[in-house]
Amino acid sequence: MTKTILRALAGETLPTPPIWMMRQAGRYLPEYKATRAQAGDFLSLCYNPELATEVTLQPIRRYGFDAAILFADILLLPQALGADLWFVTGEGPRLSTITTMDEFDKLGRGEMIHDTLSPIYETVRRLRKALPEETTLIGFAGAPWTVATYMIAGRGTPDQGPAHALKAENRPVFDAIIDRLTESTIDYLSEQVKAGAEVIKIFDSWAGSLKGEDFDRYAMQPTRTIVQELKSRFPGLPIIAFPRQAGDNYIGFHQATGADCVALDDSVTPEWAAEHVQPHGCVQGNLASSHMVTGGQALIDETKRVVQAFSKGPHIFNLGHGITPDADPENVQLMIDTVRGKV
Ligand code: CP3
Repeated sequence: MTKTILRALAGETLPTPPIWMMRQAGRYLPEYKATRAQAGDFLSLCYNPELATEVTLQPIRRYGFDAAILFADILLLPQALGADLWFVTGEGPRLSTITTMDEFDKLGRGEMIHDTLSPIYETVRRLRKALPEETTLIGFAGAPWTVATYMIAGRGTPDQGPAHALKAENRPVFDAIIDRLTESTIDYLSEQVKAGAEVIKIFDSWAGSLKGEDFDRYAMQPTRTIVQELKSRFPGLPIIAFPRQAGDNYIGFHQATGADCVALDDSVTPEWAAEHVQPHGCVQGNLASSHMVTGGQALIDETKRVVQAFSKGPHIFNLGHGITPDADPENVQLMIDTVRGKV
């Protein structure tokens, strides 16, 4: 029997939606914290195939999710292109910034990214061997706009101000960064697929700050280029796109990009998305991750609401964004039991 996630991605309406969770391997799990301590820091964990495989499997063992997502980070690609990258504990990522053509010209391209990223492909190969046969393996990358926001600012930003400023003030450099990221994301994801990733997800976490024509040009078009090139290299490869906080721009995103599934954040209601987005293809989402902290009857009610709202079409149950470190692992179990009709 084909894996449930693949069936949903192929457009099938299932009696119980398959489920996985963004950031399912993470700091809310004591076993993750133990392995991360063993690795040293976060990046050492990402580049250690043995330990990265272990943390990817931890939530599968504990909860039996229907999919595993490769343990890595969207910022490994800029690092592989030559940017400096480090993580400040409690604060987040830091990168050397790129805002001029001279800085852009120092970035690498083509096959050189694989020198840095080969341990990631090894993790994918190990996972394909280790996962239960019913569990789907998802590979991923950031979308060019989201990755560019970090490369331009050198860190996470609340409003992506530095990236918007570069777009306004030096369009050639901005476009060169987007184009380079688009090209190398295709190469990076192709190697993940060759190593055994069965589904690809493209994270555009900051798509919501692109408006009007900018959304078309810098969220939709790069994703379409990546989707179409991957599908021509790997016919039938299912792809999930996540243009987070796209709002009305979620409508039509399937057709505009060719993605099989559009992942929804929790700023749209499931009823609205069932009416406007799901008719065009599979949707993923969109329970607010705060329920993993607060739990209780509200978690049960809202989980049932999401399942019910999306029950007439293809749906993969997930949160609207990643689970946070303060979440209670028991609430995750309660969500899964509710989705699977045990509550
Ligand atoms: O979902 C998964 O479990 C797979 C692994 C994964 C991570 N990051 C591990 C991670 C995935 C798919 C990502 C994607 C990612 N990384 C995104 C897009 C998705 C999103 O959340 O919007 C972004 C924007 C990043 C960049 C990034 N990585 C930031 C801003 C941070 C710091 C914030 C934080 O939560 O600490 C990270 C660190 C990070 N990536 C952690 C994990 C498990 C926490 C690191 C730790 O263990 O200390």
